[in-house]
Amino acid sequence: MIKQAIIPLAGLGTRLLPLTSVFAKELLPINGKPGIEYILDECIEAGITEIIFIISKKKEMIKNYFYNDKFYKSLIKKKKDPRIIKEYKKILKYKKKIKFVYQNKPLGTGDAVLKTKKFIKNKYFLMLLPDDLIMKRNCSKDMIKLHNKYKGSVMASMSVQKNNVNRWGIYSISKKLNKQNFIISNVIEKPSTKEAPSNNAVIGRYILNRNIFKILKRQKKGKGGEIHITDSIKTMIDNKSLFIGHKFSGKYLDCGSMSGYINSTLEISKL
Ligand code: G1P
Repeated sequence: MIKQAIIPLAGLGTRLLPLTSVFAKELLPINGKPGIEYILDECIEAGITEIIFIISKKKEMIKNYFYNDKFYKSLIKKKKDPRIIKEYKKILKYKKKIKFVYQNKPLGTGDAVLKTKKFIKNKYFLMLLPDDLIMKRNCSKDMIKLHNKYKGSVMASMSVQKNNVNRWGIYSISKKLNKQNFIISNVIEKPSTKEAPSNNAVIGRYILNRNIFKILKRQKKGKGGEIHITDSIKTMIDNKSLFIGHKFSGKYLDCGSMSGYINSTLEISKL
């Protein structure tokens, strides 16, 4: 059973500067709601009961957002405004499910995952990358169903343009299970167009086996000097672990770049 999710939130968000010079990008409003709340709603609706946030000292604003009880209580006492009461109740609902761990040096997604090692109780857990919003269909829920059927790891995926493969983790397929699901035989982090084995990109939803921690402990730095989860996933695949690529239904929104972030608000307002 998959009951825990982890969300790496310690990234610097340089693609969203100057906003991120003072603000945590995951709290930036997308159509009036902080991006992170879309991710939390997806988790909770998929049956996740505990969500581990990996933050840094620089991103403590995220913790404060969920731990502002005094402020809400005094406001509610004075105003009794039903909207504020409703918003506070929502924050409390999230807060009950969230735990915080710290990654103070931005060493990469693989290093962020390793920080959650002692909190993961079950064999498999879910990871969501907050830059990637998937609307109209709960991708995590679909991936959990798939995991329950095949008992392996799952990564969300979509086809990208050949000249854009160096922005993503790119995987190759050894077997087609059906129209949407594939057994993965290899994965490369941000390959050049020449190196790329396909144009199947990994998108920020992963169901991982906790065996990955053993590999992450020994993981060397990869592209850009960072410790990539993709490189440890490659080792697991080489060691015969089952990884399924799931081409999700639903609408993908990239909130990590300025143009993508602006576009997300426009797209969500149309839903
Ligand atoms: C990360 C992963 C990459 C994946 C992408 C999905 O990259 O390293 O493999 O394709 O997320 O959004 P990042 O966005 O951190 O550069």
